[in-house]
Amino acid sequence: MSSPIEDLEKVIIDKAAIEKRLKELGQEITDAYAGREITVIAIINGAIIFVADLIREVRLPIKLDCIRVSSYRDSTSPVQEPEIIDRIRLDIKDADVLLIDDILDTGNTLARVSKIIGNIKPASLKTCVLLDKFTKRSVELEADFVGFKIPDEFVVGYGLDFAERYRQLPLIGVLKTELQNPPEWT
Ligand code: IMP
Ligand code: MG
Repeated sequence: MSSPIEDLEKVIIDKAAIEKRLKELGQEITDAYAGREITVIAIINGAIIFVADLIREVRLPIKLDCIRVSSYRDSTSPVQEPEIIDRIRLDIKDADVLLIDDILDTGNTLARVSKIIGNIKPASLKTCVLLDKFTKRSVELEADFVGFKIPDEFVVGYGLDFAERYRQLPLIGVLKTELQNPPEWT
């Protein structure tokens, strides 16, 4: 079997650029929450790698929890609201919550999860994404902290998958077109 990196057509963000941006983002978050504790909620699986690296760049106390959301873009079912399939366990009432996802695309996932978390009445709620496909929004929503703005291309690596593969790549790239078949993400 070939190495997963050989399945890429091109790299759009390399390892060094990710590392550099994560240090800056960690500093931005540290400054924004100065003197407070943050409750980080990672939307898994996509945010796993990003969150693991990012929280090590934040110089503040952090509590960590995860939430799992159903994928709503399976080609076998119509587009529907993403559902929570594994809830958080921490009590976040009155906490300063930072919700983290890998990528902001249409905005449906982050909008839905933000609403659910907002209903629990945290002291504050902010959002952070590694990537922002700024051209594709279907709901009005911007993340408070953004790693990189990218054009509308299907990307994998650094936590982002195609059918659960390629999450381990240390960079962000675009898959070869022939490997995106059958088109699960149209
Ligand atoms: P949204 O709900 O349309 O904003 O999409 C967010 C979710 O879709 C993310 O949590 C990702 O799991 C997935 N996603 C969107 N674009 C891509 C991509 O280019 N590659 C991999 N996953 C993506
Ligand atoms: Mg995904």
